[in-house]
Amino acid sequence: LERTFSILKPDATRRNLTGAVNAVIEAAGLRIVGQRRIRMTREQAETFYAVHKERPFFGELVEFMTSGPVVVQVLEGENAVAKYREVMGATNPAQAAEGTIRKQFAESVGENTVHGSDSADNAKIEIAQFFTDADIAA
Ligand code: GTP
Ligand code: MG
Repeated sequence: LERTFSILKPDATRRNLTGAVNAVIEAAGLRIVGQRRIRMTREQAETFYAVHKERPFFGELVEFMTSGPVVVQVLEGENAVAKYREVMGATNPAQAAEGTIRKQFAESVGENTVHGSDSADNAKIEIAQFFTDADIAA
């Protein structure tokens, strides 16, 4: 079994959609084995999205991710990284497939409801940024 790291972004908590998004995650066969609601600090958001720091939207992205609470999660399942990317849908909700989380819930390319790791290696790094082993129960 593989693990991936997920964030329910501030647009999801603001609209009280965390349960609705979790229902889609669980219906896809992914288990939520770690979950915590936090307010991300600017430092945490800048570190987490450091790979995008030269992009024109970096400032906006950090502002958004610190604009309200987020839910950080560890998801477990077969091919969890790829499966969750599929369940999330395209980054831009206008391009996301029917039934995906972003198609159903996302408001824009910036405020797109969820994050999911893009590789198993990045999943390990991202999980370690927010969880210790004691916070995960499979
Ligand atoms: P994540 O799972 O959040 O990493 O999304 P992704 O892998 O589908 O997209 P990517 O890693 O390329 O971009 C990371 C995040 O930056 C996106 O999820 C958006 O929140 C944000 N982002 C990407 N492109 C744009 C953009 O053109 N404008 C704005 N405002 N935000 C963007
Ligand atoms: Mg990404």
